[in-house]
Amino acid sequence: MLICVPDVLSKSDVAEFRHIMDSAEWEDGRSTAGSQSAMVKRNEQLFPNSETARQLGASVVAALTANPLFISAAIPLRIFPPLFNRYGVGQFFGEHVDNSVRGDQLTGTRIRTDLSATLFLSEPDEYDGGELVIEDHYGAHEIKLPAGHLVLYPSSSLHMVTEIMRGTRVASFFWLQSMIRDAHARSLIFDLDTSIQALVERIGRNDPEVRRLTNVYHNLIRYWAEL
Ligand code: NI
Repeated sequence: MLICVPDVLSKSDVAEFRHIMDSAEWEDGRSTAGSQSAMVKRNEQLFPNSETARQLGASVVAALTANPLFISAAIPLRIFPPLFNRYGVGQFFGEHVDNSVRGDQLTGTRIRTDLSATLFLSEPDEYDGGELVIEDHYGAHEIKLPAGHLVLYPSSSLHMVTEIMRGTRVASFFWLQSMIRDAHARSLIFDLDTSIQALVERIGRNDPEVRRLTNVYHNLIRYWAEL
């Protein structure tokens, strides 16, 4: 399931991120790639352990944890410190799969990558090419979102970033481990939560059936959650 989360960052947040990133130091993106990915990866990224990357990453995580749609869709247990990349003309990231387990060098924390996320920091009209292409059972999906919007997709899927033909594509990307490991179970819970929120809007939280469904929601999480 692909889920777009709009307005994770405001336009002024994005402008501030871009300003800070413009004066930061960048390295070859292959430093964090697995051996298979390294062969097809051509981009740059902020040094993952740099002060700049850590501070911007912490701001991204703070914005995400305050975002009800993100929480509902991901049910995050642990979020890997967000990384930042940029692609110039001629750069791309060929088809690859993300590592199943990632360790953070600074904290030693390891996570199972259940979901991958890309937070777009360039507007779509700033560059040509650079689509994030994600494959699932329904085919290949091309994603290019406005700056400040995020896409969540299963880390188990093959994906790529197409070659940049004009301009620069800047983004933040990260992985997370969900409390709900199984993607199908997570998607059922997300659908249930979305329906409950719609019912709450329409008939209020005090309706006995809304209460009962909310109970089912929490009991499913209780049943499936791994902490
Ligand atoms: Ni990837």
